[in-house]
Amino acid sequence: MKQFISAHDVQNIPALIRKALDYKSNPWKDETLGKRKRIGCLFLNPSMRTRLSTQVAAQQLGMETVIFNVGNEGWSLEFEEGAIMNGTTVEHVKDAAPIMGNYFDILAIRTFPGLKDREADYGEHIIKQFIQYAGIPVLSLESATLHPLQSLTDLITITESWQATNSRLAEINMPLPKPKVVLTWAPHVKALPQCVANSFAQWVNAWGEADLVITHPKGYELAEEFTQGATIEYDQEKALKDADFVYVKNWSAYSPYSSMPPFGGDWMLTNEKIGQTCNAKVMHCLPVRRNIELSDEILDGPNSIITQEASNRVWAAQAVISSLLQ
Ligand code: CP
Repeated sequence: MKQFISAHDVQNIPALIRKALDYKSNPWKDETLGKRKRIGCLFLNPSMRTRLSTQVAAQQLGMETVIFNVGNEGWSLEFEEGAIMNGTTVEHVKDAAPIMGNYFDILAIRTFPGLKDREADYGEHIIKQFIQYAGIPVLSLESATLHPLQSLTDLITITESWQATNSRLAEINMPLPKPKVVLTWAPHVKALPQCVANSFAQWVNAWGEADLVITHPKGYELAEEFTQGATIEYDQEKALKDADFVYVKNWSAYSPYSSMPPFGGDWMLTNEKIGQTCNAKVMHCLPVRRNIELSDEILDGPNSIITQEASNRVWAAQAVISSLLQ
């Protein structure tokens, strides 16, 4: 693997999931793979899980991690080609990225979308320039349109949970039925990026081992390039029927970009709604706004596998860093 920006960078998703689950069984099995190698983690935006899990994963591979909070500690970076830098930006990415390429063996970057200019965000203007100028493998810690480490984690979590549900078939190596996975929009107080939802749809479709239904109010359609292969159902109740997994996430509209169109009905997931599913496991990438995006009763109840999901971030990161090193 040369870079990790989207599902398209992975040749064999099931093999990468197996690799991650192998690391979960034996975290230190490649503890010298990254000896005398360094990963630089650049944060242009905040993070808790991604930052910590990437550090833990790199450490378990024997790598050294350098964290750089560009957003509030570094020089303000310029990304426009030909910019006359007489404003607030101090250093061009063309000058900064090659230096980082010399300091590190892998460059990991978190950069959120501006949510103002759809073309710039969906062109992945920022991460693409780091790829162009750094000269070393680039690992996305979430970019303007995608969150691949989160999505790989989600597939790992669905895989292990589905194997546990179907343990008798799994034990005798029989093929498991495809689970029904529902990605449901949920309310939020502010406009959030579409990254997690885009990425989840892209990865589940590329994986091909689950039936994906996406449900949201009219006006919250995601970009078709990511949802192709999924069923779109505007009626949340219908969508949830017989679901095995429910992935909850808010996102703002793709068109008009980053708007929050008014919606009717109550879209927050409750125990009553879970009653329509096949005792579905509930997932969320976190952080979550309690009792806005997801109810206490779901988050604190038996159907939530959200802590297990967040814990699995380590194994996704370890499998990907290991693949980039190899
Ligand atoms: N899910 C996720 O990416 O969490 P952080 O923003 O805390 O890294």
